[in-house]
Amino acid sequence: MSDELILVLGATGTTGRRLTRRLRAAGVAVRAASRHGEARFDWSDPTTWDAAVTGVTRIYLMAPHEVPIDPLFVRRAVEHGVRHITLLSSRGIEAMGDERLMAAERTVRESGVDWTILRPDWFDQNFDEGFLQPAVMAGGFALPVGETGFAFVDADDIAAVAAAVLTTDGHAGQSYELTGPDSLPFAEAVRIISETSGRPVRFGGTDDDYLAQQAQLGEPEEQARQALAAFTALRELGDQPPTDAVHRIAGHPPKAFRAYAEEAAARGAWDTAH
Ligand SMILES: NC(=O)c1ccc[n+]([C@@H]2O[C@H](COP(=O)([O-])OP(=O)(O)OC[C@H]3O[C@@H](n4cnc5c(N)ncnc54)[C@H](OP(=O)(O)O)[C@@H]3O)[C@@H](O)[C@H]2O)c1
Repeated sequence: MSDELILVLGATGTTGRRLTRRLRAAGVAVRAASRHGEARFDWSDPTTWDAAVTGVTRIYLMAPHEVPIDPLFVRRAVEHGVRHITLLSSRGIEAMGDERLMAAERTVRESGVDWTILRPDWFDQNFDEGFLQPAVMAGGFALPVGETGFAFVDADDIAAVAAAVLTTDGHAGQSYELTGPDSLPFAEAVRIISETSGRPVRFGGTDDDYLAQQAQLGEPEEQARQALAAFTALRELGDQPPTDAVHRIAGHPPKAFRAYAEEAAARGAWDTAH
């Protein structure tokens, strides 16, 4: 792997930060890029793209929430000699009608170079680093997912799989569904967060709970109903089962949600001072 240089996009984010740390600990050369990272990369500024991909052999390709993967960037990367692309996608995108990530998957499949697609379930870290953190601190939230079970996955495990895919052979043309060890209803995950953090957190899983919350947040009803339709489709898929992908590819069993929550609480993730 000595000739390899891996470009990690979103390198200050939840998965990219962990992946960068892991690769560097293994002695792999990494260019850690984002708008405010070590190397500058901005999806909305193509003048930053060439410097980011120069000399790079493999890419961890991700775009933040709602930002599309621009096919022109992927083409540019391939022209620069990138040989393998690992894309961060998501589970359930067809059901949810996630055009952004479906297009991203098509782009890497049609890139002409080797690719691997990672399709994680909901991240554990949504509760302490991501979009649910403010709601946990405020004491509750609604999400119209009913009693459906989701196999929450830890970002450290996603990073471990990505590191294996980026540094070992045999993953080209594969799409991996990454999960934790258990399928949990959201209400159960929230109960675990409440128990471990010592904070009461309410959870509403019905459509009405969600519409009332979004109205209170000032979201136009039409927009809320669009999101509701996507969540309804996800719910109708039924319980999302765990897979053995993390264990098989990273070589260790995935972290249980409770272990994640206990570690985050012990670190003070939900203390008021944060
Ligand atoms: N959360 C979940 O449960 C879940 C589940 C499945 C899939 N996903 C997917 O995971 C992705 C998010 O990954 P993540 O959680 O690892 O990232 P993240 O924590 O949301 O961080 C976003 C990263 O992108 C960078 N960034 C933001 N705007 C940028 C721009 N215009 N150009 C270049 N970089 C930019 C940020 O750094 P700077 O601010 O320095 O630019 C940061 O490093 C999304 O596509 C989401 O759909 C999420």
